[in-house]
Amino acid sequence: MEKVIDENKQGTSLELEQKESNTKKLFIESYGCQMNFSDSEIVASILANEGYNTTQNLEEADLVLVNTCSIRDKAEQTVRKRLEQYNRVKKHNPGMKVGVLGCMAERLKSKFLEEEKIVDMVVGPDAYKDIPNLLKDVDEGREAINVILSKEETYGDIAPVRLNSNGVTAFVSITRGCDNMCTFCVVPFTRGRERSREPQSIMSEIADLWERGFKEITLLGQNVDSYLWYGGGLKKDFVKATEMEKATAVDFAQLLDMVATAYPKMRFRFSTSNPQDMHEEVIHVMAKHHNICKYIHLPVQSGSTRILKEMNRQHTREEYMALVDKIYAIIPEISLSQDMIAGFPTETEQDHQDTLSLMEYANYDFGFMFAYSERPGTMASRKMEDDVPEEVKKRRLQEIVDLQRAIGLKRTQRFLGQTVEVLIEKDSKRSETQWSGRNSQNTVVVFEKQNYKVGDFVLVKITDCTSATLIGEAVGYSEMQS
Ligand code: SAH
Ligand code: F3S
Repeated sequence: MEKVIDENKQGTSLELEQKESNTKKLFIESYGCQMNFSDSEIVASILANEGYNTTQNLEEADLVLVNTCSIRDKAEQTVRKRLEQYNRVKKHNPGMKVGVLGCMAERLKSKFLEEEKIVDMVVGPDAYKDIPNLLKDVDEGREAINVILSKEETYGDIAPVRLNSNGVTAFVSITRGCDNMCTFCVVPFTRGRERSREPQSIMSEIADLWERGFKEITLLGQNVDSYLWYGGGLKKDFVKATEMEKATAVDFAQLLDMVATAYPKMRFRFSTSNPQDMHEEVIHVMAKHHNICKYIHLPVQSGSTRILKEMNRQHTREEYMALVDKIYAIIPEISLSQDMIAGFPTETEQDHQDTLSLMEYANYDFGFMFAYSERPGTMASRKMEDDVPEEVKKRRLQEIVDLQRAIGLKRTQRFLGQTVEVLIEKDSKRSETQWSGRNSQNTVVVFEKQNYKVGDFVLVKITDCTSATLIGEAVGYSEMQS
């Protein structure tokens, strides 16, 4: 579930350890990207200090929070439907309060309070520390809304509670916001300007996770390669930093090197990379450390230079191909994955063919593919007509999905006969006698449990596979086992 939007997890409600003195009940549910799931852990942590324990039973909740996604229209419709369901419960339990968090809160602001009468509180992604005050406003009958975006907030000082955790893998956020302004994307509007989190607070969160037995960390951000710490402040203000600040700045390659060196028995992943910001140094750091997983999620969105330009992606098809070449040259065993948008305004059949041929070239192991969805307020919606007919979008999307499946199968098959290193995460979906984990390249691997346990690093000889799952037999512990 490396990426961004894990369909299996959409709408999961979160449960954490209970504090005995807490008497109120919080039901918190998340949609959208991993950052939202991570933010919900921060919110639950803030509310644990306000007398709330989490519950998975909507009916008994005093406070219901939904962390929302605006990335495509469908994501917003899902949340609207959920609100209708909360409304039904509220009829039996009029004391129940409902709050909307995240990107939809930010996008719709006070409109939410007008449109959705059951919503009591609206909180944008940078205002979660204000929730205790906003709850007082609700209690006192005032309008409770805070959608102010911040230049500094990274929640670095809040220890997130780990919700629904397997105790083995965790996400640690390192940047917030995005400055890239891809013309189709709402994120720069809903999550604000890009800022990086202080390395020390990242290190101490990892130290805490290590102490508690976690074995794999995914460093999280909308654009991790753009990470830059120079004492605080926005990425775009780096030019104004002092000479001293510039000299002691930490970039993503350095951060990655730092964490991988400090915790050699812990695995590190990161998501998401933007091709325009992915520097060669990062690839060398990945190659240098066994414990940095050999997997890069490298969204491209389109294989046509003309469309990439319309999307305001800062690279051409050829530059992307050159980056892919460089990555495979430095790390031959790497797996890559893509995000693709079918049917961006003005996309022709030739542009679409360029996308398909780029996919063949890049040889992606996985992909996350979407039909273009016009988002209000974005550059594309203001300047371009959503002119590719729905059925054409659908057909192109299907061709992209089918091709990815075929390429993915070949990529999965390359592991047949190999012995791969797997971190055991959980029971396999198919059988209680089998473990499930992932190899360094992020492919799921299942095998008989023997005497191994969750959190072990084992070597697995691959004997069989389906299109996206490797099947094998454990043959011993790996060098990562401590
Ligand atoms: N940098 C982010 C990207 C977030 S959006 C990250 O952390 O992954 C995730 C993906 O959703 C994008 O890469 C893009 O492929 C898709 N997407 C974004 N806006 C979209 C839109 N308006 N229509 C269709 N797909 C979209
Ligand atoms: Fe969106 Fe582009 Fe940033 S897809 S999150 S604006 S890199």
